[in-house]
Amino acid sequence: MSYNLLKGKKGIIFGALDPNSIAWKTAERVHEEGGTFVLTNAPIAMRMGQINELAEKTGSEIIPADATSIEDLENLVSKSMEILGGKIDFVLHSIGMSVNVRKGKAYTDQNYDWTQKGTDVSAMSFHKVMQTLYKADAMNEWGSIVALTYMAAQRVFPDYNDMADNKAYLESIARSFGYFFGRDKKVRVNTISQSPTPTTAGQGVKGFDGFIAYADKMSPLGNATALDCANYTVTLFSDLTKRVTLQNLFNDGGFSNMGVSDAIMEKFVE
Ligand code: NAI
Repeated sequence: MSYNLLKGKKGIIFGALDPNSIAWKTAERVHEEGGTFVLTNAPIAMRMGQINELAEKTGSEIIPADATSIEDLENLVSKSMEILGGKIDFVLHSIGMSVNVRKGKAYTDQNYDWTQKGTDVSAMSFHKVMQTLYKADAMNEWGSIVALTYMAAQRVFPDYNDMADNKAYLESIARSFGYFFGRDKKVRVNTISQSPTPTTAGQGVKGFDGFIAYADKMSPLGNATALDCANYTVTLFSDLTKRVTLQNLFNDGGFSNMGVSDAIMEKFVE
């Protein structure tokens, strides 16, 4: 169902790789709600992914950008303003990658070059995106910036590995930059802490099947889907949440406030 919540709003959406991607679902929902946007992803992901299909479906242009490269980001921001015909109202940062996770390196046996690469891609890129937008004065007043995160930033999930630290850093950047963006440009900055979701990045985590089933059984409403996340993001991009900022917002079916559920207890009681 569409409510025209984003009619006339313009934005940039990072991280749509394939139809499972949370950013893909978000782009579809933003389009349905009347928003227009530029799609972007790392040049390498463009070759592997199906982003052209999404661009066609949503009437969007694609600008490749490695989110760790300031040069790419400056180009992305200036070209997006040209294409969209003015300043930007919303930005979704939906980017995450750990080389240690990919290559099966344990948290206690890190390759620090890989750790640094993962931090740059997954967390510092959010600072780089915001600093580029801020310096170019590219955001409209009452605009909204959202990044996606996971609860391993607060609690221990051993197989989440160094991504846990990256998410803690990402959430901190949202608060720190959100202060300056709010004070100087009236722009809000939030993170959505999403349930485990079967995407390319999600399924890269060791033991993902157990992980997602456990979270589902623990949550009174069950796991939030990629579509649920897209819908929540739409509300944060809309004018209905104008003074929500510096928040880490859980979209997780209630998981983050649970101790134990009946469904989990049943597995331990004879
Ligand atoms: P995905 O694999 O579809 O998306 C990750 C995206 O990051 C890809 O499009 C990839 O090309 C992009 N990316 C990687 N390196 C990049 C770079 N240097 N520059 C620009 N883009 C780059 O997976 P998903 O799950 O949709 O991930 C989106 C966000 O949601 C990530 O931040 C992830 O950590 C977060 N998240 C995912 C959960 C899950 O269980 N899938 C749970 C909670 C948060």
